[in-house]
Amino acid sequence: MDYFKRTKINKILLDDIIPLNQEIIILGWVRTIRLSKEVAFIEINDGSCMGNIQAVIQNPDDYPILKQILTGAAVRVVGKLIESPAKGQKYELSVTEVQLVGEADQTYPLQKKRHTFEYLREIAHLRPRTNTFGAVNRIRSKIAYAIHKYYQERGFYYIHTPIISASDCEGAGDMFRVTTFPLNQAPLKDGKINFEEDFFGAETFLSVSGQLEAEIAAMALGDVYTFGPTFRAENSNTSRHASEFWMIEPEMAFADLEDNMEIAVDFLKYLFRYALEECADEMAFFGQWVDKTLHETLEHVVKSDFERLPYTSAVKILEKSGEKFEFPVKWGIDLQSEHERYLTEKTFKKPVVVYDYPKDIKAFYMRVNDDGKTVRAMDVLVPKIGEIIGGSQREERYDVLRDNMIAKGLNPEPYFWYFDLRKYGSAPHAGFGLGFERTLMYITGMANIRDVLPFPRVPRWAKF
Ligand code: 4AD
Ligand code: MG
Repeated sequence: MDYFKRTKINKILLDDIIPLNQEIIILGWVRTIRLSKEVAFIEINDGSCMGNIQAVIQNPDDYPILKQILTGAAVRVVGKLIESPAKGQKYELSVTEVQLVGEADQTYPLQKKRHTFEYLREIAHLRPRTNTFGAVNRIRSKIAYAIHKYYQERGFYYIHTPIISASDCEGAGDMFRVTTFPLNQAPLKDGKINFEEDFFGAETFLSVSGQLEAEIAAMALGDVYTFGPTFRAENSNTSRHASEFWMIEPEMAFADLEDNMEIAVDFLKYLFRYALEECADEMAFFGQWVDKTLHETLEHVVKSDFERLPYTSAVKILEKSGEKFEFPVKWGIDLQSEHERYLTEKTFKKPVVVYDYPKDIKAFYMRVNDDGKTVRAMDVLVPKIGEIIGGSQREERYDVLRDNMIAKGLNPEPYFWYFDLRKYGSAPHAGFGLGFERTLMYITGMANIRDVLPFPRVPRWAKF
């Protein structure tokens, strides 16, 4: 199908590679078609960018196929690119050949009227053809590239951590099980399911995080990052939680919490700047149709310092706020989304890094402070979304780690390999996890995490 001979529309509209007055081939899908006696117009989009090319066909009677071409059809057109006499577009295609590659009939669901995002989720195979999800999918790809670029240019190595895991990194217990046992007849031993007979000879799950393995890699390679899917079986049906989401987890050897905060803030700003500068086409669309304040917000965030404050100070601010929270605030509680939003939207009006959280509400691997009550944890919070990054300096001291784990009611035994890391050449190290979808929500202004995922998995939804 002329793979190497075709011209992609983004080359013409965005990259200024304009083969004027030469014959070119465009392959794409029909957005609209208007047919009259004298002339026909077909708006074609090929997915390479927001914009369409208008194909203009003189003497439509010479092209009987036109009558079969409806919105949604796949077409191949050949013609000369010329400067358009019409308003609102610079170029158009003066067509010499039209081919209908794949028909679409009247039932094509994406006709001119706008559909809700909820409705579009139900037609997953056509959703990417809309302007919004075209833009979402392209920006997802571009920001994924920016993430690799950021770390690769700074000497981090990309580590592939396993998706199937025998340990619960976050100790929260919300994991999907992996097993080959038949559902109704798992073998028993002493009245309990005998996982020794299961596929891996142990109880296994889909990983909630690649952190523990990333720590192992960091203690050999220095600076590493992971970027992969993670799975959580928390039954929270919110606009910010997905059951399958992507996470970026950098891990740095010989680094402490201050280093961690520096890198987290620098990294986030880099991604926002990248979106503004390198994804202008999509960002213009989101700025116009999804959130009018998007550019202003991101530009402000890129320029400003993030606020940094200890958890204890954050709690004091919330207690003094006089605000009626659904979850009352007192030292020791985990900050809820409403508290996070108050801090970022009302108090500071910008992203905030909260650190030194109570030990009891955070994971077992975080480094215990000298006060014995708090740990070297940090969360980066942003307006509207709340937590976008969670991270910490890791507990590098064998005994403290062990005590903390036991205090949390976890069995250290399956983590022997993680403990061994503290035996030979242990060193301070730190890292964090950035939720890829939450980042995309912030960049695009899309309000529901389902709508920045090409195929969302959330409670009660995994059909396609
Ligand atoms: O705060 P979390 O649970 O941290 C960890 O998993 C650590 N192991 C990271 C590390 O230190 N290497 O998750 C990190 C981030 C959150 O801040 C959030 O952005 C995102 O992952 N996240 C989710 N995103 C979408 N859906 C969910 N259910 C999410 N749970 C966490
Ligand atoms: Mg967290």
